[in-house]
Amino acid sequence: MQKIRVLFVCLGNICRSPAAEGTFQQVVDDAGLTNRFEIDSCGTGAYHIGEQPHPTTIQVARQNGIKLDHLKARQFTQQDFRNFDYIFAMDASNLANIIRLAQSEEEKQKIYKFRKFDPDVQGEPDVPDPYFGGAEGFQNVQAIMLRTSQGLLQWMQNKLT
Ligand code: 4NP
Repeated sequence: MQKIRVLFVCLGNICRSPAAEGTFQQVVDDAGLTNRFEIDSCGTGAYHIGEQPHPTTIQVARQNGIKLDHLKARQFTQQDFRNFDYIFAMDASNLANIIRLAQSEEEKQKIYKFRKFDPDVQGEPDVPDPYFGGAEGFQNVQAIMLRTSQGLLQWMQNKLT
């Protein structure tokens, strides 16, 4: 059985996308689908390459029973279009930057805005960047990750044939 390869993308790969990766992994594990997915994250920017997730991201995830396994931030590359089936951007800026790097319609069609799958909102809002704010911002992001990961797995059910 082929795995579905999923990539979450933010700017720094230290706050939002590692939280999305870890939370979606947990939701997948809880559904008994661990061996059906390959899940990773990266950032469009180069500022934090090699770093661990932000300490508050790790702490808030842990408070929600989620262990973050993404230990080294990395930057998105065009190779990711070949290595992944679905690419989920955290905000409009990340989305535009990924679309700009796509070299075919097929690659473009792999790209979605993450919160398209948030069951609690209309439209496709950004996941707010928590980096420059306090702990509430990180808690808000974690709540978004949980809801949206559940919505995303539901959307993917018919791809798991
Ligand atoms: P992330 O958050 O994109 O969710 O990882 C940020 C991390 C770092 C910076 C911005 C956002 N920064 O400007 O360094």
